[in-house]
Amino acid sequence: MNVYDGQRIAAMLRARGMNQTENIPDADIIILNTCAVRAKATDKVFSALGRIRLEKKPNALFGIVGCVARESGAEAFRRVPELNFVLGPQSYHKLPEILENPDTKLFNIDLGGLEKFDEMPQPDTSPALAYIPIQEGCNHCCTYCIVPYTRGREISRPFDDVIRDVTHAAKTGAIEICFLGQNVNGYKYTSPDGHIYRLSDLIGTTAKLDTIKRIRFTSSYPTEMTDDLIDAFRTEPKLLPFLNMPIQSGSQNVLTKMNRPYTLNLYIDIVDKLKNARPDIQISSDFIVGFPGETDSDFEQTLDIARRIKYINSFSFKYSPRPHTAAALMPNQIPEKIKSERLTKLDTLLNEIQRNFNESLVGKTLPCMLEGPDKTGRHLVYRTPYMQPCITDTPHDAPAPQLANIKFTAANKASLRGKIVK
Ligand code: 5AD
Ligand code: SF4
Repeated sequence: MNVYDGQRIAAMLRARGMNQTENIPDADIIILNTCAVRAKATDKVFSALGRIRLEKKPNALFGIVGCVARESGAEAFRRVPELNFVLGPQSYHKLPEILENPDTKLFNIDLGGLEKFDEMPQPDTSPALAYIPIQEGCNHCCTYCIVPYTRGREISRPFDDVIRDVTHAAKTGAIEICFLGQNVNGYKYTSPDGHIYRLSDLIGTTAKLDTIKRIRFTSSYPTEMTDDLIDAFRTEPKLLPFLNMPIQSGSQNVLTKMNRPYTLNLYIDIVDKLKNARPDIQISSDFIVGFPGETDSDFEQTLDIARRIKYINSFSFKYSPRPHTAAALMPNQIPEKIKSERLTKLDTLLNEIQRNFNESLVGKTLPCMLEGPDKTGRHLVYRTPYMQPCITDTPHDAPAPQLANIKFTAANKASLRGKIVK
């Protein structure tokens, strides 16, 4: 979501004749697009602001947009008095106002809902992978999560608006569409004539566009995985066989305290249905370890579910108490040391599962999408349908197709090696 927001902010300023630079002393305006989901992310913002303050040109404008802006509100100006703007995740379209009135402070952390989508210009060109937000906010009140506070209640964008954005992206360079939402599979839009549109309708309509070759969506809430959507994995070959469906914990006890009211059996049933619809599907998850009251045995159950589902490409985090959340006030907060130990154990297991999966692909050929040069700048990297990077033996400056069949020749825990085949 933040990558998308960043792209739109860049496009908005480019339309006003500005160019992008990574070099702070060169910049006339410096924008931190921020995430508040864990305390560490918020802390990083304020330490970065401290550095930028010293490095920037004296008259350069600087400020924060996104969830930390909403979380800290006017307090941000007190902590860093030189800040010129503080704009919440639904008001960053107002950013150009600071260019018109550089001597004022621009402050807006309102929940404006979908307004920003209507006010921002469409970029002239689309990256090959186009992120298309279909929803703002979240109606699930997980007790650890600040998102319902920073991004507000869930609103689905009108079906026609989303399809307009998808069509525009397809015409201007996109070959992969990734639908975005905090609760993306809960997408539900009722048109004025009473027709209800779901995510499966967006996928079906998008798949009809010839230039679009790959479709995916993130992030899904388990109980919103409706049969029409599961069926899309059976009927729509452009839908990638990869799904991020966070379970967060493998303990029923912890899930209840997290206010994620699904049973493990229900979750496992959904995975079975998905595998039935698309046998090659792989699932990824987010995990939180060290939630208040989590016992050793609760944590063991998280390891058990990870082994059982064989999650690939997952993310695991230490629980971080956040303002405006119920869990921050719960008893039995877990000491940092135990959180760290549990995180290391879970990461070790997830890496092992991931390595096994990557190794199982060696010798196979899959259609992959061009990403760009590898870290050394020598060879081209492609993304597999499961989102692992695959470093090819194709030189970075060789003509290469955006979509190529790649035969995998080697694997490690984080990436694959491969070569383009006909
Ligand atoms: N502490 C740690 N991780 C969190 N997440 C959300 N809130 C917190 C928190 N307070 C994680 C969840 C979510 C991902 C985006 O961030 O796993 O799925
Ligand atoms: Fe946060 Fe996701 Fe839960 Fe919504 S579903 S409250 S975004 S963790």
